[in-house]
Amino acid sequence: MKKTSGKRTAFVCTQCGHDSVKWFGQCPNCREYNTVSEIQVEEAPARPRRRSAAGAAGPAHRPQKLSQVSMPAEPRLACGLGEVDRVLGGGIVPGSLALIGGDPGIGKSTLLLQVADAVARRGHPVLYVSGEESAEQIRLRADRMGVRQDGIWLLTETDLDAVEASLEELTPEIAVMDSIQTLYAPDVAAAPGSVGQLRECGLRLLRRAKDGRCAIFLIGHVTKEGEVAGPRVLEHLVDAVLYLEGERSQALRVLRGVKNRFGSTQEIGLFEMRARGLAELTDPARAFLVDVNSAHPGCAVVAPLQGSRPVLVEVQALTARSAYAMPQRVATGFDQKRLAVLLAVLERRAGVGLASSDLFLSTAGAFALDDPGADLGVALAVASSARDAALPAGTLALGEVGLSGELRRCLDPERRIREAARLGFETAVVPKASSGDLPSPAPLKVIAVATLREALERTGVVSERGR
Ligand code: TYD
Ligand code: MG
Repeated sequence: MKKTSGKRTAFVCTQCGHDSVKWFGQCPNCREYNTVSEIQVEEAPARPRRRSAAGAAGPAHRPQKLSQVSMPAEPRLACGLGEVDRVLGGGIVPGSLALIGGDPGIGKSTLLLQVADAVARRGHPVLYVSGEESAEQIRLRADRMGVRQDGIWLLTETDLDAVEASLEELTPEIAVMDSIQTLYAPDVAAAPGSVGQLRECGLRLLRRAKDGRCAIFLIGHVTKEGEVAGPRVLEHLVDAVLYLEGERSQALRVLRGVKNRFGSTQEIGLFEMRARGLAELTDPARAFLVDVNSAHPGCAVVAPLQGSRPVLVEVQALTARSAYAMPQRVATGFDQKRLAVLLAVLERRAGVGLASSDLFLSTAGAFALDDPGADLGVALAVASSARDAALPAGTLALGEVGLSGELRRCLDPERRIREAARLGFETAVVPKASSGDLPSPAPLKVIAVATLREALERTGVVSERGR
């Protein structure tokens, strides 16, 4: 008997998108509690049996040796925006589905319009679907940004059926959905932007991308706190997830890959928001530096590796006498728990106590420091503010701080030191363990130290004798 399609109840985790036919208190996938949301979804109609490529009835796919799989002629399409290509792992992969997330107003539409322009200029047709802005608004923006407009097809639509029809008709190489939250599949009885709609639209576009060899970019608004039932439910479905980050009040934007089936997620792309759209930064290593030659108490410079490139980032700390029994610890761009560990090491192993001081720590441009090699710089910045003694101007600090106050080597110190030398740094404080094989590119001088205490003494933050 033919099965008729109808509705069924599904329970979906609003945190990670895991779905189940049963209710759950704790999500079996991400282990979060109370994240379940009940939704109605369409039963999938029985699919017609697929035909093989030869046209005869039978299974569509048979196992084949990996060596027999044909290689695509042009595996990647370099869009020409170097920073975007870098984050994608060397260009856009035909047939891939990528999610571009970020706060509203951060510049996602701007970035994707530039990608569309760059691709269209290379002679590849592009479809830009917007459910957020009118065609006139987009035209005005494109004019202002100097986008060449005859290679880009624009569709202002929110109905997924119409979007799919246009994809079929135009067979573009690249398509942009701005945004996935405004799209809706008419056969799903849920509001646009709901978990059910996001999943249905995501799945259908995934199928469309794979079948048509069209690379599709989904724009999704994600709030800073990581909106619960937002486009994050699509993260497991898409091939790549990129986030565009930055402070709206500042011009700097960071494009960060958090998932990429076709490349590394270590790389970042750096842009500056200007009057004519996003401009790629010509010297990204310098983007998070204020002034190499200035020396202020509480400032230190670290060099986290971002994929293949080191970026030099200024860290600032401010300590002040606390008016509370529980002093405040406020960190931007650095893990609060890691900071607590560093404060304990500073107190016990280097004699710099902060028990009755408030501490505020921030990184330039709120750059997220997750490289352990930044420990020493953060500890030096804190101690420098506490003792009101500036580090010598042009000093780079590298190294992970251990619980006994010993310094451990970090990954690829050589590359970081060369980059610092190029930017005019004069001194690099590095762990002794890694100093043997390090260059001292003139005029940069390498100071090798074994412990945090020694690093503080050699940079003049604490005196060599007095403890
Ligand atoms: P937009 O791309 O619309 O953000 P999103 O799609 O992420 O919501 O960018 C919005 C902001 O960018 C807006 O506040 C103005 C600014 N902007 C510029 O400064 N210069 C430009 O050339 C453009 C297009 C936007
Ligand atoms: Mg937008």
